[in-house]
Order: sequence, then C-alpha cells, then structure tokens
Amino acid sequence: MTTTSTPTTSTPTTSTPTTSTPTTLPGGTWMLGDREVTRFGYGAMQLAGPGVLGPPADRAGALDVLRAAVEAGATHVDTSGAYGPHVTNELIREALHPYPPTLTIATKVGADRDPQGGWPTARRPEDLRRQVQENLRTLGVDTLDLVNLRMGDAAGPRAGSLAEAFETLARLQQDGLVTHLGVSNVTAEQVAEARGIAPVVCVQNLYNLAVRHDDDLLEDLARDGIAYVPFFPLGGFTPLQSQALSAVAQRSSTTPMAVALSWLLQRSPNVLLIPGTKSVAHLRENIAGAGTVLSAQDVAELDTIGR
Ligand SMILES: NC(=O)c1ccc[n+]([C@@H]2O[C@H](COP(=O)([O-])OP(=O)(O)OC[C@H]3O[C@@H](n4cnc5c(N)ncnc54)[C@H](OP(=O)(O)O)[C@@H]3O)[C@@H](O)[C@H]2O)c1
Repeated sequence: MTTTSTPTTSTPTTSTPTTSTPTTLPGGTWMLGDREVTRFGYGAMQLAGPGVLGPPADRAGALDVLRAAVEAGATHVDTSGAYGPHVTNELIREALHPYPPTLTIATKVGADRDPQGGWPTARRPEDLRRQVQENLRTLGVDTLDLVNLRMGDAAGPRAGSLAEAFETLARLQQDGLVTHLGVSNVTAEQVAEARGIAPVVCVQNLYNLAVRHDDDLLEDLARDGIAYVPFFPLGGFTPLQSQALSAVAQRSSTTPMAVALSWLLQRSPNVLLIPGTKSVAHLRENIAGAGTVLSAQDVAELDTIGR
C-alpha cells in the first residue's frame, strides 16, 4: 500500500503478466500496473452489515477474515467507500494498518448510499473528488493504490460517455492521490473511451460460470495485458448452484465454490479473483481448492452452465 504523499505527474507503466514472485496461492501473480498482486485476492463487500449497510454483526470475525486472507498471502483486497458506507474501509484499516508494502487495496468511486440502502449515482467531478478524499481518510493512506470508476447501475452497465468522470480521476492521479485507475460495470466502448484518457490497469465487471456476457471483452483485455476482475465470482448474494458444478466438484474431490474459482483462474491469466466470504473456514476452503486442475471434459461440462 502506498503511503507517500509526494505528488507525481508520471504515467504508470502498462500492465504485463508475470509470475516473478513465488506465492503459495493458486494462480500465481499478475502486474496491476507496477503493483504485483496475487491472482487470488479478497473482496470485502459482504463484511459490512446486511444489504452492505452498517457494521457487521460479528466485527471480530470480519477482522479475522481480513487478517487470514493477508496471512495466507493474498496481496489484493477489493473494497469501496460505498460499502457500509465506509464500514469495510474502516475494517480493513483496523485489521491491516500499517499495510504491508506488498498489499494492493483497490477501491471504487461513482456511487453513494442512501438511507434505504440504494446506490445513487455520484459521478460529478465534485462527487468523485469527495469520494477519493473519503477513501484516503478511511483507509488511512496518502495515495490510493487503485481506484475503479464504477459506471452503470445495479442492473448492469449502461451506454454513455464516462469521459468527464474518468478525466476527473486522471487529474487526481496526476495530483498523486491515486496510483492506478480501472473501470467497473462498463461496456467495451466505455473501456475503450477510458483507455483514450488514461492507462486502465483493470476492468471489474460481473462475470462467473453462469454470467458470461464479457467473454470477448475478457479475451481482448488479456491480449492488451489488462486485468479482468470478475465481481460476484461465486454468484454474489445467491451463490452459484448447478448440477454440472456439483458433478465436477464431486469428481475432483473439492467443493462447487472451489471449482467455480478454478474455472475462472483457468479461463485466462488476466483474471484476478476477489471472492467474498465472512468465514475464515470458507476462505481457507476456497484457497485450498481454487488450484484444482480442471480437465478439458470438466471445462466442457462447466461451459454448459453459461452458454
Ligand atoms: N464493481 C461492482 O459493482 C461490484 C459489485 C459487487 C461486488 N463487487 C466486489 O466483488 C467482491 C465479490 O463479490 P461478493 O462477495 O458479493 O460475491 P461472491 O464472491 O460471488 O460470493 C460471496 C458469497 O459466496 C459465499 N461463499 C464464499 N465461499 C464459500 C464457500 N466455500 N462455501 C459456501 N459459500 C461460500 C459467501 O458466503 P459466506 O460469507 O458464508 O462464506 C457469500 O455469500 C465483493 O466483495 C466486492 O469487493 C464489486
């Protein structure tokens, strides 16, 4: 995690795949710009209270999960100031600050929360500047490693220009408040538009065994060395269930969740995992099983789920 407050106007380097640092986590590592991260990361959203609002029922358990993820070697944690709001950032700070220099914390801007639990769009320049400042404060850093601009809404990506919002983030990057930029919940056209404004190190969209609208985008990004970070890798609030998934898991002597993660890791080297869990046992189960080697027959069977 970056702690320097020195402003910089330099342009981040382009992402390239690497497996240079040994990790015991399945999938090896990937370069998010100049930040090497384990492909097995952790998504903190569901550590907040019900509906991603307010504090967790089991605060100590939430802190344990974050510490267990990092102790297991994960160097990529995904969060947002909108989770809680601010709750997952504050948990991350309490559990992990001072951050190991190897840890990359990715956050998101572009939405606020209302008292009913809605996610109202907040992408005017003043909204984004405020959200970046809130993330800096709640995470306790001078520079955010990675900020994703979240577009669209709860129903998914929406066509339309992201130029004004992404240009605002690019200026904050030039001011030294953000190291790398990404986009989330976006169309392929919006990815291209963002790349015309500033380097994009990752795209975070909904994708898993059952939801594969982004098959082509994921492969295009792989060719360009840009990470694809599927959100809801396990199906989100309604975890994946399918006969094919259970059958492959049984054959492989592992769990359906582990197979879903193995499939993503095998899908393409630019796929980074940020599965969520409130349970240290589930975290360990997922780490233990996500390296399951799937045969061509397994993959063909799993491909029937989403195609
Ligand atoms: N960019 C965006 O718009 C956006 C939107 C949504 C999410 N995200 C990011 O994506 C991350 C991942 O999404 P997510 O956490 O909502 O969904 P997810 O990773 O697809 O699934 C999490 C769910 O799977 C369950 N689970 C995990 N491991 C399990 C296991 N071994 N056995 C049984 N159940 C298991 C969890 O329950 P337990 O807690 O009981 O283990 C939890 O209910 C989030 O944390 C967030 O950082 C981004």
